[in-house]
Amino acid sequence: MKRDIVSVLDMKDDFIDFITQGIELKNRFKKGEVNNSLTGKTLAMIFEKPSTRTRVSFETGMTQLGGHAIYLSPKDMQLGRGETIADTARVLSRMVDAILYRAFDHKNVLELAKYSTVSVINGLDDEEHPTQMVADFMTILEKKGRFQGLKFAYIGDGNNTLNSLLLSAAIVGMDIYAATPEGYEPKKEYVKKSQDIAKKKGSKVIITNDPEEAAKDADVIYTDVWVSMGEEKEAEEKEKKFTRYRVNSKLVKLAKKDYIFMHCLPAHRGKEVTDEVADSRNSVIFDEAENRLHAEKIILLKLILGI
Ligand code: CP
Ligand code: NVA
Repeated sequence: MKRDIVSVLDMKDDFIDFITQGIELKNRFKKGEVNNSLTGKTLAMIFEKPSTRTRVSFETGMTQLGGHAIYLSPKDMQLGRGETIADTARVLSRMVDAILYRAFDHKNVLELAKYSTVSVINGLDDEEHPTQMVADFMTILEKKGRFQGLKFAYIGDGNNTLNSLLLSAAIVGMDIYAATPEGYEPKKEYVKKSQDIAKKKGSKVIITNDPEEAAKDADVIYTDVWVSMGEEKEAEEKEKKFTRYRVNSKLVKLAKKDYIFMHCLPAHRGKEVTDEVADSRNSVIFDEAENRLHAEKIILLKLILGI
C-alpha cells in the first residue's frame, strides 16, 4: 500500500522514527557513506509557488540517493490548460515513483493523493508544511537532546507552518505556546487536534495573543513570515498589526539563556525577525535549512522503498 504525507498526522505513529532515522542518515552521509538505494527511481515535483529549500533539498536528495527528480511548473504542464488533477495523478503514477506537490489549496493535494497510486508528499500548501517538520524536529533533537520538558514558543502569524508545528509538538509531547495577533490565530481544527493529542501525552498547547507570555523561559523561539505566499494583498494591513510580534533582542531576553532561534525561512529580516536575532549565537536557522536535505532523504526512502 502506498503511503502519502499530506499532513503531519500522516506521520503521527512514527514521526519519531522519521526524526531519529533522518539524523542517522545525515551522520552516515557526513562520514562519506554512499546510499544509492533509489537508483532508477524518479520523483515528479509540481510547484505552484516559488521555492528554494524544498525544491533544492528534494532534487539534491534524489540525486544523492541515486535517483532523479523532475521539476514541473503547472504553467508548463497540461494541468495549467485544464487537465484535471485526477488525470494528472493517474498519468504521473504510471511513470514516476513519488510525487511532491506544493500547492495553493490543501484540497488539491488531497485530490492528487486520492487519484495517485504512488506516494504524494505535501511540499507546503495553505494549511500545512509537513516536510519542514521533520527537519525542524531533527534540529531540536540535535541541539537540545530531547523534546519533553521543553517550552517551544511560536510568535507570529497563525499560518500553515504553525498548524504543522502544533501537531508536531503535540505528537512528541513538547509544550507549545503560540502567540499571534488577534484575528490571526491558527485554525480551530488544528488547535483542537493538537490539544487532543497533547492531552494524551501530558503536554500543553497554548494559544495566546501575548508574545511575552510565549517567549518567557522558552527553549525554542520560532517565527515565520507575516505574509505567506498567495497572501500578498494583505501585506500592508498585516505589517501594522504584527509589529508587537517581531522577534527582536528585547523579546528573546525573556527566553532561557541557551534558547535556540528557528525559522523555516525565507526570512523577511527587519519584519518578523531582526538581524540581531537571526544572526545571533542562538540562531540555528541554517542548520535547520541544511536538515531539509536529510529530512527529505529519509522521507523519500520511507515512502518509495516502504522502509
Ligand atoms: N522553508 C521552505 O519551505 O522554503 P522554500 O519556500 O524555499 O522551499
Ligand atoms: N508560511 C510561509 C512558509 C514558506 C516556506 C508561506 O506559506 O509562504
